[in-house]
Amino acid sequence: MKVSIRGAAQVLLPPEDGLPYLRRPSELRLEPGSVTAEDGVIVALEDDPGADVIIDAAGRAVIPGFVDCHTHLPFAGWRAQEYEQKVTGVPYEEIARGGGGIAASARALAAASDAEVLAQALEVREEMREWGTTTVEAKTGYGLSRDGELRLARLARRVGDRVTGLFAHAIPEGYDAAGWMDEVDALAAAADVDALDIYVESVAFRNEDLERLGEIARREGVPLRAHVEQFNANRSVPVALAAGARSVDHLACLHPDDLAPLAAAECAAVLLPGAEFLGAEELAPGRALADAGAICVLATDCNPGTSPVAALPVVVGLAVRRYGWTVREALAACTLNAAWVLGFGDRGTIEVGKRADLVVLDGPVEHIPYRFGHNPVAEVVTA
Ligand code: NIG
Ligand code: FE
Repeated sequence: MKVSIRGAAQVLLPPEDGLPYLRRPSELRLEPGSVTAEDGVIVALEDDPGADVIIDAAGRAVIPGFVDCHTHLPFAGWRAQEYEQKVTGVPYEEIARGGGGIAASARALAAASDAEVLAQALEVREEMREWGTTTVEAKTGYGLSRDGELRLARLARRVGDRVTGLFAHAIPEGYDAAGWMDEVDALAAAADVDALDIYVESVAFRNEDLERLGEIARREGVPLRAHVEQFNANRSVPVALAAGARSVDHLACLHPDDLAPLAAAECAAVLLPGAEFLGAEELAPGRALADAGAICVLATDCNPGTSPVAALPVVVGLAVRRYGWTVREALAACTLNAAWVLGFGDRGTIEVGKRADLVVLDGPVEHIPYRFGHNPVAEVVTA
């Protein structure tokens, strides 16, 4: 089947074909044009009047489908009551210590059937698609027991295009950090996951556990990712870089001395402005990271606690306003650069031979951050 998107006012194009990521997203080109796809692959950057489906994109933009490389799907239920506590002044760490936070979602998950968990996760995934997201990462992390995490890894496979084992998310009752890391080691060997992740924070794991997870990831031959510097500057970034991490995520409290080494490394800075905004967290130094040439990435962090957000266009709007990013910087961060984090070389830009994951907007790309909260997606085409 052939689909032709024709006469767009803007097609978002990479500066050249085959780039793994962009450190200077201002090089992205926005040009009028058309895109034709056949059997799920982009075959021409021109119109084909004989195509089976023709989409008129006059006055509109065509961009690659968004890649959400950091979500916490699947999870069970939501935690709206905690949001009210948070906005009225109770800190996240206190909510967590009081049995809320990750532990509350773990209880909800244990009480829900597989069918219930999948139904909720797939509904959120559908919502993401309506906002233009065509590739989604899923994670474990709310299992909080060996069997719970194995179950979640299995369910996550049915929800996401990549599965990250966030086995080290919170320390389950009856364990200390080191003791649970022994279980993490066993889980990493037993579960079918594409990457490993850890939450380093005062209420969770330590830098030495991150170091150990780096060794486990190397042994398993999967990328290491890490939730770091969300609420405090724990100086986890140098540890993650030494361990060869693919990404460091959050960075709201990134230590200034760690910025240049991160920007120079082949390690993505995954920024999560939804969590920053809704949690009144510190602001990651997005402008400085972009200026220093870091591999900058944006994601929703979609989870029931810190960021119950599914819409990447809203995240783009936050990043543009709060980091002082251009639209191009924000778009590179949730297309090509996010695809690189997940190890997908077949998507993230509009070029011949890549997957035809395409979004037609209802206006120009500049409207995504500007019409904040508006869903800018007119059509989603997927391979
Ligand atoms: O990425 N910081 C740790 N993990 C999640 C929050 C999980 C939760 O609160 O349920 C995050 O923000
Ligand atoms: Fe997260």
